[in-house]
Amino acid sequence: MPRTAYVNGRYVPHRQAAVHIEDRGYQFADGVYEVVPVFGGTLVDEELHLDRLERSLRELRIAMPMSRQALKMISAEVMRRNGLTNGLVYMQVTRGVAPRDHKFPKTPVKPAVVMTVRQTKPVSQEILDNGIKVVSRPDIRWQRRDIKSTSLLPNCLAKQEAHEAGAYEAWLVEPDGTVTEGTSTNAWIVTKDNKLVTRSATNSILNGITRISLLKVAAAEGIEFEERPFTLEEALEAREAFTTASSIYLLPVTEIDGKPIGNGHPGILSQKLRQAYIERVAKPGAFQAEAAA
Ligand SMILES: Cc1ncc(COP(=O)(O)O)c(C=O)c1O
Repeated sequence: MPRTAYVNGRYVPHRQAAVHIEDRGYQFADGVYEVVPVFGGTLVDEELHLDRLERSLRELRIAMPMSRQALKMISAEVMRRNGLTNGLVYMQVTRGVAPRDHKFPKTPVKPAVVMTVRQTKPVSQEILDNGIKVVSRPDIRWQRRDIKSTSLLPNCLAKQEAHEAGAYEAWLVEPDGTVTEGTSTNAWIVTKDNKLVTRSATNSILNGITRISLLKVAAAEGIEFEERPFTLEEALEAREAFTTASSIYLLPVTEIDGKPIGNGHPGILSQKLRQAYIERVAKPGAFQAEAAA
């Protein structure tokens, strides 16, 4: 089936999908995005993703391009046209097209909207059995990491370095030694006294939707957790570590900077949480029911 994209009001063949050269997203990374997982034809935590999209836009003073209902209709249509039942929906909104000038356009322009979908392969058994390797890198990003901005160059550089080092992800570290998050994932550890720890949702990190949902899952499972910064040193000494994102749910981390975490195998709590999270994702209607509650 040929791929179809949505670009500024039109459904177009993916190969021909294009934006204007003076789109501020292209020139200044003046835009935001969301990646929403699709499981069995349902957008996982759609309302939470749209909440975050609206918040990111508000923080950058970009107008919501259309109603939430309209965004939902477009994502459903892009999924339909691409025959997508499992994978990801990518949505991006930029400030729009205007002559190149750092200042916002004097008369507001129409925000530009792009939506695409992608089929994803299930995580390999090899990764589930052995976990992933992570390397640490200095966090050189700006101070508003809570905004899901398309400005991802530091993330790309660190991810490439991880790849070149044979690792799956880079965890980013502040000058004070604390881990903020991964380049495209949130970072978690399980301490020696079995406490689940992830950084609190401040401007230092992107508040992952998987992070939010996993905290709910942990609470429902009676698992104690703390939202606080943890150091790289603490992570190296942790019983378990894992990393979360919409595209991967939860992947156990079994090595950081070449050193094994815990016994070097995916941790028991990590595996239990991954399973519990997937069960929640797979429960038909779970998201709509929660959103309505
Ligand atoms: C920097 C960063 N942190 C965390 C995440 C995880 O967020 P989510 O769970 O919403 O996918 C992402 C996802 O792209 C990210 O880019």
